[in-house]
Amino acid sequence: MSETGIYEPFYKVIGKELEVFEHAYLNKLPLLLKGPTGSGKSRFIEYATYKSNQKLITVSCHEETSSTDLIGRYLIKGAETVWQDGPLTKAVKEGYIIYLDEIAEARPDILVAIHSLTDHRRILFMDKIGESLKAHPDFMLVASFNPGYQKGFKELKPSTRQRFIALTFNYPEPKLEAEILIGESSVDKEIAKKLIAIGTKIRNLTELGLTETASTRLLVDAAILIKSGLPKRLATETAIVEPLTDDPEIAEALKDLCNLII
Ligand SMILES: Nc1ncnc2c1ncn2[C@@H]1O[C@H](COP(=O)(O)OP(=O)(O)O)[C@@H](O)[C@H]1O
Ligand SMILES: [Mg+2]
Repeated sequence: MSETGIYEPFYKVIGKELEVFEHAYLNKLPLLLKGPTGSGKSRFIEYATYKSNQKLITVSCHEETSSTDLIGRYLIKGAETVWQDGPLTKAVKEGYIIYLDEIAEARPDILVAIHSLTDHRRILFMDKIGESLKAHPDFMLVASFNPGYQKGFKELKPSTRQRFIALTFNYPEPKLEAEILIGESSVDKEIAKKLIAIGTKIRNLTELGLTETASTRLLVDAAILIKSGLPKRLATETAIVEPLTDDPEIAEALKDLCNLII
């Protein structure tokens, strides 16, 4: 357990990501985690934060996330209006790591809001109260982004990307991924290997035109269900096949593939 009373998150280091994080943190360089959904970005930042004995604030960005949500707003309390700091302001003041998950999903005004925090100034302009805040020395900005391998995915402007150093996440090699499945679910090694084989097969089936492929997260979910006692075929169907497609024909093909391997 850390000084902050949080247990160490389970995370398998895949490459040099922890080393890069440590140096980014030392120098407080903004860090961008790129990679498909379920590839370990969020888990990694929890782990890296824990390892640096730091506090983490996560903001899951969506289409409505605006700079106001990050910086803060006036709230009406009785006859008074009181200012309430948003998560970014809190992180800047207290010196936390802030993780803007899926930053490209948010409204563009948040990119303006973080602009002056991502360069040597390390200042947050709070336009609503006309103040600017110098960031605490421990403050660090981390964001995640799912690269636009699909039409319709939001892109991040090159000028924004250039404000971050970036780490790419991908599904780990089979041996490591099996260790992740076992670590997360205590499932048997044999089952873990079969689930990885299913994952690898589906990841190579580009002709199916799936929007997203079998992530580590889906394989972990299948492992958890199997460990819990759900029949294996039902577990792979509900944890892997159904989340990936609504098309009955593709679902049949994926089910056959799972049944064959499991
Ligand atoms: N390197 C890893 N070590 C441990 N667990 C992992 C790792 N990569 C992925 N996972 C598992 O996959 C799940 C999804 O990972 P997550 O970090 O939420 O993905 P992302 O944020 O990239 O969408 C986690 O809950 C965890 O079970
Ligand atoms: Mg995530």
